[in-house]
Amino acid sequence: MDALRIKGGVPLSGTIDVSGSKNASLPIMAAALLASGESQLDGTPDLVDIRTLAKVLAHMGVGVSFEEGSLKLDATKIDKPEAPYELVRTMRASILVLGPLVARYGHARVSLPGGCAIGARPIDQHLKGLKKLGVEITLEHGYVEAKADGLVGSDFIFDMPTVGGTEHLMLAASLAQGTTVLRNAAREPEITDLADVLNKMGAQVDGAGTEKITIVGSSSLKPYTHRVIPDRIEYGTFLVAGAMMGQDLTIRGGLPDHQTALIDKLVQTGTEIAADNQSTEITLNRPSHITPVNIKTAPYPGFPTDMQAQMMTLLCGAHGTSTVSETIFENRFMHVAELGRLGANIRVDGGNATINGVRQLSGTTVMATDLRASASLILAGLVADGETIIRRIYHLDRGYEHIEDKLRAVGANITRFSE
Ligand code: UD1
Repeated sequence: MDALRIKGGVPLSGTIDVSGSKNASLPIMAAALLASGESQLDGTPDLVDIRTLAKVLAHMGVGVSFEEGSLKLDATKIDKPEAPYELVRTMRASILVLGPLVARYGHARVSLPGGCAIGARPIDQHLKGLKKLGVEITLEHGYVEAKADGLVGSDFIFDMPTVGGTEHLMLAASLAQGTTVLRNAAREPEITDLADVLNKMGAQVDGAGTEKITIVGSSSLKPYTHRVIPDRIEYGTFLVAGAMMGQDLTIRGGLPDHQTALIDKLVQTGTEIAADNQSTEITLNRPSHITPVNIKTAPYPGFPTDMQAQMMTLLCGAHGTSTVSETIFENRFMHVAELGRLGANIRVDGGNATINGVRQLSGTTVMATDLRASASLILAGLVADGETIIRRIYHLDRGYEHIEDKLRAVGANITRFSE
């Protein structure tokens, strides 16, 4: 299994480029199922999650080619509208193929995404919404079976703004007869990017980026050609790296408008941030001391839950006490115990963490627990005294393209090895 070795304390200088968005690419890949012909997604990051969904699509009969960031998906012929457990279990977003398949073929069978589907991360909103569009849903032997004789537009109110749920219903409604109105919809930039794609395909999607999205479906859609938006979470992770170790560290290709809540907080910590309005470049310098701040995660445009772990790592070195409240996912503080091994002083009470800044983290061996937690441990390793070994980094390869190469290019002493 791969691990990372980091020798901390080296300032980061130079330029890092941001890759295309993983979370925007996944639903856009599912959109290819809606049309006969070859769709093309440019700027797709080469990540395990992308390759997993590509395998799910290939398993159904979709023609897949992926070269130099250009992903081509030809869904002219689908042999079996089915996504098996072995492929779906590693990635929850695979459920997004259900709606497009049933909308186009009248039936689909997709494994429930792992044990957490009914527990901490349910898909009840996806299924309720599809039912509202006329899909008959049954759960049998760990699979969701969906049947429909043509989808019909409807009005649906989400119980909470769910990113995947909103994307899923937008996809299905694009092939439904008539108009669908989604209320209390998620507003993330990935939703707006998907709406752009569906509009290119011939659906009429209005209001993406607001709480009310209207979709006028079409009886048949065209394949798309599209360039995916930059990955705002990778971008945010590098911004935090700049706040921790930056010495004129420039991050290029991200969209500051997609990370306003994070950038506001970084400014409050005292990080020096210079943005070039003419381009997508932002240059950061670490402050001489980090001012503590309080963070509360919220749906977009609030502070992203996917940036919580990385921000907490920055706050471990603040002069004073900060708080972090996690309101989106329970049990998203698994990085805390590992940060503690590096010398952080963090107390957790339910969804709230209190971080008392320490003068210096000190390197040791830690274990990556999930995708964003892995990124937080890399950041901790970059700032810690001595050597940090991060084990079980396979999570990282699900969401960060060549992260160690990108960091090494700006001065970090980081290497990957097999153990
Ligand atoms: C997406 C992102 C993930 C991010 C999350 C929140 C992708 C591939 N993943 O995940 O990185 O952390 O948004 O910004 O885009 N919920 C229900 N029932 C449902 C659906 C969701 O109760 O049917 C709850 C979840 O348990 C959670 C909240 O709604 O508490 C938000 O989840 P959601 O926005 O759906 O997250 P994902 O789309 O899975």
